[in-house]
Formats: sequence, structure tokens, C-alpha cells
Amino acid sequence: MNFDYSEEQLMIKKAARDYAQRELFKDVIERDTKAIYPTEHVKNIAQLGFLGMLISPEYGGVGVDNVSYTLALEEISKVDSSIAVIMSVHNSLTAYGIENFGSKEQKEKYLPLMASGEKIGAFLLSEPDAGSDASFQKTTAVDNGDHYLLNGIKNWITSANTGGVYIVIAQTWPEKGSKGINAFIVDRNSKGITVGPHEDKMGMRSSDTHSVMFSDVIVPKENRIGEDGFGFKFAMKLLEGGRIGISAQALGIAGGAYELALKYSKERKTFGTEIINHQAIAFKLAEMAASIESARLLVHKAAWLKDNHQPYGTASAIAKLVATNVAMQVTTEAVQIHGGYGYVKEYHVERLMREAKLTQIYEGTSEIQKIIIARSISRDC
Ligand code: CAA
Repeated sequence: MNFDYSEEQLMIKKAARDYAQRELFKDVIERDTKAIYPTEHVKNIAQLGFLGMLISPEYGGVGVDNVSYTLALEEISKVDSSIAVIMSVHNSLTAYGIENFGSKEQKEKYLPLMASGEKIGAFLLSEPDAGSDASFQKTTAVDNGDHYLLNGIKNWITSANTGGVYIVIAQTWPEKGSKGINAFIVDRNSKGITVGPHEDKMGMRSSDTHSVMFSDVIVPKENRIGEDGFGFKFAMKLLEGGRIGISAQALGIAGGAYELALKYSKERKTFGTEIINHQAIAFKLAEMAASIESARLLVHKAAWLKDNHQPYGTASAIAKLVATNVAMQVTTEAVQIHGGYGYVKEYHVERLMREAKLTQIYEGTSEIQKIIIARSISRDC
């Protein structure tokens, strides 16, 4: 077993860390407070290659391994998870889906635009009544010969407004249940699409989250991904990889809060000494460090399995369950270590705590990860 990172992986981690600490940190509080979409930063991370990480060079991407990808996401999430979620949905759900399951024409048409950041990817699965129960799709895609007609509502869509390339999951053959579901690539500017108001979220406030309404949207048949009825399995396969991205994000949120708490505890004095010299604080930091390290092993194991073409669905569910719980625990302790200062925006840790909460909810709640893990355990016995 080799726990060393390659030179390339370390270089990618450093590039992400440098950008996050130098550029993202200085205005993250303002973006969060005013819910400002990070237009310039998204352009910059595209130039750094972060939007083409899971797109192969053949289509203009960088095509790095998944461990490198998690390292980059972790560093960006230490500072600004809104940018990390844009990057994650774009790479591990949308671009990865097109590259690995799309037709040659679909890849040639969309991937170069996505690798350059000209078009941002969005993944439209959730609906008002289909969140955890993802196969209960009410959005319909009626087969009309040379095209499909899309109607319905999608909810909680990251990059719904700014995204250019939608992957939309919809029901074509209701009588077949999950086997009647299809996936389509849909241009965000298609006639009949209405994007709802920006959701006023508790955390990750500057990512672009909206509902999307489809009203008789015409989707050419060549925009369907895979065989007729492949849509649900496709969505599930994508989420296996997406959850590696979200677990890396959670790891970064925890790491960001830990770094701030460690720094603060070496500066802040009470009872005549820096607070790190009090065992009550030192033990908290020790637990935070140990939890982060154990989550990191799980995140990297899931990424490594994906890189090595081995099944990674259960590993990614375990990584997401553990890393997102660690993010919640570590950020809560980071606020506690900061005392009153932790409860105000200026010290960043309250924002990281708000961001941690979302990682336990999207791309499958913690309870959904437990379902996936439990089913895997019962299959194996
Ligand atoms: N890979 C391939 N196929 C899979 C699969 C996988 N990982 N998981 C399930 N399937 C297949 C099954 O084999 C089955 O096919 P067969 O009938 O041929 O065997 C079919 O799909 C149906 O499977 P299940 O009966 O297991 O499906 P289910 O209805 O019980 O649901 C679930 C399973 C895991 C709970 C699923 O509904 C799920 O993952 N729910 C959570 C959805 C989710 O994560 N949403 C996140 C939204 S995206 C988002 O948040 C992005 C963002 O913007 C940040």
C-alpha cells in the first residue's frame, strides 16, 4: 500500500491551495453575506484547469486522476464551498456523465465548452416530490418520434441559472418505473425553460441554486444519453462519483475549520497562557485532527478505487457519510474553540459550520448513504 502523493498530485493540491488562500479568502465573507455568484472566480478556476479535471485532453480537459481531483476540491472547500460545489457538479456529475456515457457527437459538442468553462454543467434530478426517492420522477419526457417533449419541475438545482449544459432526468414510460426513466442533455436557453428565484440558503449562499420549470421543451432525440430507459441507472452511477466530490468538499470544510481553530488557539490567551495549552482545547484539536485524517483515508480510498476501475459505490457512500459527519463535528468544535468570536462572521468558522450542514443533505442525505451501505452489507453476507 502506498500513501505517498505523486508530484503531480502535490502540484495540483498546491495550485488549488494557493488560489483559495490568496484569492478566494479575501472576499468570501462578502460573497456569502450578499449571496453573490462568483463569476470572476469561476472564470479563473476554469483557466487553472479545474473545470476540466475529469474531462480528457482529447476534449480540451486536463484529465487528471480522481485523487488529484479530491485534493483540489478539498483545498478550495477550505475557503469557499460555493465554488467547490459548482466545480463538483460540473465535473463529477455533468462532464463525467457525458464523457463516459455520451455519444461521440455529444462529447465533441459539449465537453470542449465545459472544459474551458464557457458552459457550466448542472444536474437536474431532484423534484419537489422526488429528493431521496429519486425514481419517483414526475417530470415527463414524451417520445414524439424525432424528439422528446419535456414537462415538469426540478428543485434545488446547483448552477441552474448560470449553467449552460443541463443533464435532465425524466420519466418516459411510467408503467416501467425506474426502467422507464431517461437522461437528456438540454441547452439551458431552450424555449420553454423558466428558472425560478434564487434560493436564500443557510450556507453555500453564493452558489446558484434554483428550481427549473419545463413547459413543452423540445429535446432532439440525439440528446438522450444511452439506451432508452437508461436514465435512472445513469443517475445512480453518476452520484457514486459525485459523492466522492462531496466527501472531499466536506473534508475541506473540516480542514478549513481545523486550521483556523489551531491558529486561533495558539494566539488567544486565557488564564495566562495560549488556549492550546489547556487540555480542554488541546484534546478537542487532537480529536479534530484524528477525525479529519480518518475521513481523508476513506475519501482517497473511494477516489483510488474509481481510478483503478474497481467498484466504488459503497466506498463513496461510506466516505460521504463519514466525511460529512466529521465536517459537522469539526466545524461545531471550531466555533466552540473560538468562543464568542466563533459566532460572528469575521472569524469564518460559523460559515464553515453552515456549509458543513449541506454536505449531509445533498447528493444523497446521510440516511440515503446508510441505505446504500446497508444494502451492500446484506448483499455480501
Ligand atoms: N449503479 C447502477 N445501477 C443502480 C445503482 C447504481 N449505483 N443503484 C441502483 N441501480 C439500479 C438497480 O440495480 C435497479 O435496477 P434493476 O431493477 O435492473 O436491478 C434500479 O437501479 C433501481 O434501483 P433501486 O431499487 O435500488 O432504487 P431505489 O428506488 O430503491 O433507490 C436509492 C435507490 C439509492 C435510494 C436512490 O433513490 C438514491 O440514490 N436516492 C438519493 C438521490 C440523490 O442522491 N439525490 C441527490 C440529488 S443531486 C444533487 O444534490 C446535485 C447537486 O446539485 C448538489
